[in-house]
Amino acid sequence: MAAPTWLSDAVLYQIYPQSFADSDGDGIGDLRGIAEHLDYLAWLGVTAVWINPCFVSPMGDAGYDIADYFAVDPRYGDNNDLARLVDQTRAHGIRLLLDLVPGHTSGTHPWFVASANDPRDHRYIWAAPAGGRLPERFVPSPGTRPGGYLPNFFDFQPALNFGYARQKADEPWRQGTDAEGPRANRAALRTIMDHWLGLGVSGFRVDMASSLVKDDPGFAGTARLWREVRAWLDRTHPEAALLSEWGDPALAVPAGFHADFFLQFGGPANGGPLRSLWSTGTATSLKEWGTDPCYFDAGGRGSIGTFLNAYQDAFHTIGEPGHVVLPTANHDFARLRTGPRTPEQLPPAFAFQLTFPTLPAIYYGDEIGMRYVPGLPDTEGSVLAPGYNRSGSRTPMQWDPGLNAGFSAAPAGSLYLPVDPDPDRPTVAGQRADRNSLLHLVKDLIAIRRAHPELGPGGSLEILHDGYPLAYLRGGRFLVIVNPCGRVRVLPHDRPELASATGVKHTGVVVAEAKITASPFSFGIFRL
Ligand code: GLC
Repeated sequence: MAAPTWLSDAVLYQIYPQSFADSDGDGIGDLRGIAEHLDYLAWLGVTAVWINPCFVSPMGDAGYDIADYFAVDPRYGDNNDLARLVDQTRAHGIRLLLDLVPGHTSGTHPWFVASANDPRDHRYIWAAPAGGRLPERFVPSPGTRPGGYLPNFFDFQPALNFGYARQKADEPWRQGTDAEGPRANRAALRTIMDHWLGLGVSGFRVDMASSLVKDDPGFAGTARLWREVRAWLDRTHPEAALLSEWGDPALAVPAGFHADFFLQFGGPANGGPLRSLWSTGTATSLKEWGTDPCYFDAGGRGSIGTFLNAYQDAFHTIGEPGHVVLPTANHDFARLRTGPRTPEQLPPAFAFQLTFPTLPAIYYGDEIGMRYVPGLPDTEGSVLAPGYNRSGSRTPMQWDPGLNAGFSAAPAGSLYLPVDPDPDRPTVAGQRADRNSLLHLVKDLIAIRRAHPELGPGGSLEILHDGYPLAYLRGGRFLVIVNPCGRVRVLPHDRPELASATGVKHTGVVVAEAKITASPFSFGIFRL
């Protein structure tokens, strides 16, 4: 079954709920805060919002350590607030997606507490010590049960048992995927999804989607599991969408997902370093990054070839039924504006993101050019474990010039993370009042994309030039020029039809007979 139409037309927006808007002045964002800003999101033109986990959690990993899948954490409000938010987003023409964390729970989840005290329970993966030592990676049991458990990410996130693809006689904790524990966990997963879909949410971003079945060559067992979930979903909630954090659409879509996030590509599995389109290495260190310049490098030293190859491979494998999501950033990685990148470099990046045949996802604040704030202490996500410099991408949304940039009425010192201290920090209010701002540009680009389906994932793509500037045709009808580098670039061409193209939106690109001239950090969208 193909992806629901609403997804194919979607412009996604990610809200990190801690940092978006604090309605009750306790220094941390909440669901009512989100509800208070839905007019803004509708004005911007986004059609679907996904929020990071908002469920009861000790917040050792910012909510990715869930203690109750069915209850909203009090810091964000309560279940009624979430139910209201679902209705309010719908009333604004926006769909709401939640974050599903299938692979692990918090160590405080009652399932884990029970398992740590009952050797007959197999919802988690337990090993007995051999020769006085636990097998590698296993963490000592916190309960009366002897031995240790396998974590999925941080030590305080015990992996739920979905079985192993391969068994070994001397490793009895490797249960088959159809053992009792894995069956119970698969059933629980459906119950959780059914619960929130029943409330009216439109789907899930699925955390660490490839991590479920262990020792799983080619992810065959994990893919079987998700295809089973998808078959159930197609029957019971055909309008719902599953978006995976997998990082490999060519595997994730055939495994049952409607779309996969494509923030990084390449990587050891593809015989090279991991790369990002937007940044060279990144300020955050969740993964090991290659060091070659990215394509959106101001010096024009990057190459878009690796991205295009990876995208085209993915596209040809997944075909019609699935999508590639291209985010500006997320809560784990550096923002679009990181390190030396200046605001003037952002328009070509958005022009690319919003005219390429992928689903765009805007990370909150990137639309006004909020920067990655360097040097912030790690908070959640590192209290009990090493941090990954992720705080710099998670600072409060900058709404206006008032106290705490309009994020919260709490004293500045009691905010969960500080607001960017830069006196020139951009704000939504400032940019809404300025027709020439990045915010208005992003809004216009979204409107153009939504008005012309050729610019969406269904329109054809013909690359005319893959250096600086990048030039491509969408749907045979739109010419897009993107020059992310700080020098004028001239592109000769021999297509007479380009010369008569009319500008839809452009900054410093001139299309003439025989050549296209692109000023530094420019882009152009033209209709043929
Ligand atoms: C995903 C999340 C990240 C979290 C991890 C463990 O990568 O995006 O924030 O720390 O999973 O759940």
